[in-house]
Amino acid sequence: MEDLIAVLTSWSVQFIAALVFLYVLLKVFKRVRYAGGKRPPGPPSLPLIGHFHHLLFGLPHHSSAKIAEKYGLIVWLELGAVRVVVVTYSDIAREVLKTQDHIFASRRPLIMADMVFKRGQNLGLSPWDDHFRLFRKIFTTELLSQNRIDSSKDFRRQMTLRTLRTAFEEGHGNRYINLADLSHNQFLYLTTRMLFRTDGHAQNKDLLEITHDFISAGGLVIEDFFPLLKSLDLSGQVRRLKNIGERYFKIMDSIIDNRLKENSNSKSNTEEDFLDVLLATSTFSRVQVQLLLLGIIVGGTDTSADSIVWAITELLWHPNIMERLQRELDDVIGKERLVEKADLNNLEYLQAVVKETLRLHPVAGLGVPHYSTEATKVAGHNIPANTWVILNIYAIGRDPQDWENPLKFDTSRFLNSPVDVRGHHYEVLPFGAGRRRCVGMNLALVCVAYIAQLIHACTISLPEGLTHLDVDVEEKFTLTVARRDPLNLLMKRRLPLDVYRKAGLQFSDV
Ligand code: HEM
Repeated sequence: MEDLIAVLTSWSVQFIAALVFLYVLLKVFKRVRYAGGKRPPGPPSLPLIGHFHHLLFGLPHHSSAKIAEKYGLIVWLELGAVRVVVVTYSDIAREVLKTQDHIFASRRPLIMADMVFKRGQNLGLSPWDDHFRLFRKIFTTELLSQNRIDSSKDFRRQMTLRTLRTAFEEGHGNRYINLADLSHNQFLYLTTRMLFRTDGHAQNKDLLEITHDFISAGGLVIEDFFPLLKSLDLSGQVRRLKNIGERYFKIMDSIIDNRLKENSNSKSNTEEDFLDVLLATSTFSRVQVQLLLLGIIVGGTDTSADSIVWAITELLWHPNIMERLQRELDDVIGKERLVEKADLNNLEYLQAVVKETLRLHPVAGLGVPHYSTEATKVAGHNIPANTWVILNIYAIGRDPQDWENPLKFDTSRFLNSPVDVRGHHYEVLPFGAGRRRCVGMNLALVCVAYIAQLIHACTISLPEGLTHLDVDVEEKFTLTVARRDPLNLLMKRRLPLDVYRKAGLQFSDV
């Protein structure tokens, strides 16, 4: 027995000694590799996992903001096998996204890109290469051009009417409605309508499910940081993502087959949608068409929907701001018609509400990681090639160096101010900036301003017994930073019945 204990002890001692030796060797190796260069500061790291434990507790955009408070506005982290630089200050963001945009405009291959997007053959996850340039061009010139956004105004109108009908059916039956569910459904309807004209309920329901699964499976995939674990798939996320990809391709195959059949059978004069545009360009394979469309569904649905939920949350929390917005809407639009897209630019206070919402609640809190293609210096620190660069958009928008009383929802900051949210002012970057700036930004800004239609056409109340003081802003972090808890609301008609009827809304209860 004693012999056995002695053998075990000596084995475990040797094993631990080997680990320590490996760790020291790794550190020395890294020192030598980076000799002559000063990397950004960062907290002490643990063997093997580096700083990964910081991501395990709390929300990643909060944890990295806390690290920045202690170690500086540009921080070096080792997340398992991945080297990461986190930027939390507007001037450094400018250096990354403007001065050195050409070095940081790439993306690192991710498991999600592999499993679902077939090696990043879509826009958002594609590295900076010829494919990317081609994808980006078709998005900006064809799919999401201003003309196409304008021409989709009828879909948006239909979407508004559907939203109002659903909200009123529940509200006038004294039933609360979960605003996030309502908003996600409506945006998925709008997106799929723009992409491939479907409002076939069965397919939309499946797509909604797939989008939700994708969002919850895709947030933080542990195996991206520990590639050796990929084949073990301990978290089950690799399997989940693969399964989501398979389900999506099955639906899309049937949508594309039907479309090709339709197109060959008749010279139909239905309006051209994104699918038609992509099928008409011989540049893209069928898989690329499917992936480009999936990128829009994922990038465009929950982002806009969750931003609306944040805007309404803040308006309910600040009744004075809600009243002022309603007053502006009543003054400019009146009470005899609904808000239209053409009104949006005339609503100065509305625009301030939208910007302040995007500052305080940027749904892409940590953006999409950029990736350096060559070694460079940022803010005097050495950044090696092949390093992730994460912009903490959330913390930048709340930085007391740039914003007075930054945690306060204060619309006056954007009244009579040249600062906007389109990526020219680095202290507020909800859409990023530079070559990888959100390609759906113009559409998103129209969609988020859609809160005007809700605020103008509905009275919105909290559940009985709750006051504005009970509204909370707790978050959850998935692919978007969304409200953690449901926002259940009672929504009723605010305008004379005739106004809705004239707009084409029929009610069954009157
Ligand atoms: C409020 C709504 C939205 C917000 C806050 C938002 C935010 C962002 C951010 C921060 C990025 C990353 C920028 C970077 O890498 O520096 C991004 C990229 C992207 N967004 Fe959006 N987005 C929104 C809506 C949309 C919509 C409506 C669409 C499409 C219809 C869309 C499609 C994309 C795509 C395809 C990319 C990848 C661009 C690239 O890698 O070149 N987004 N978005």
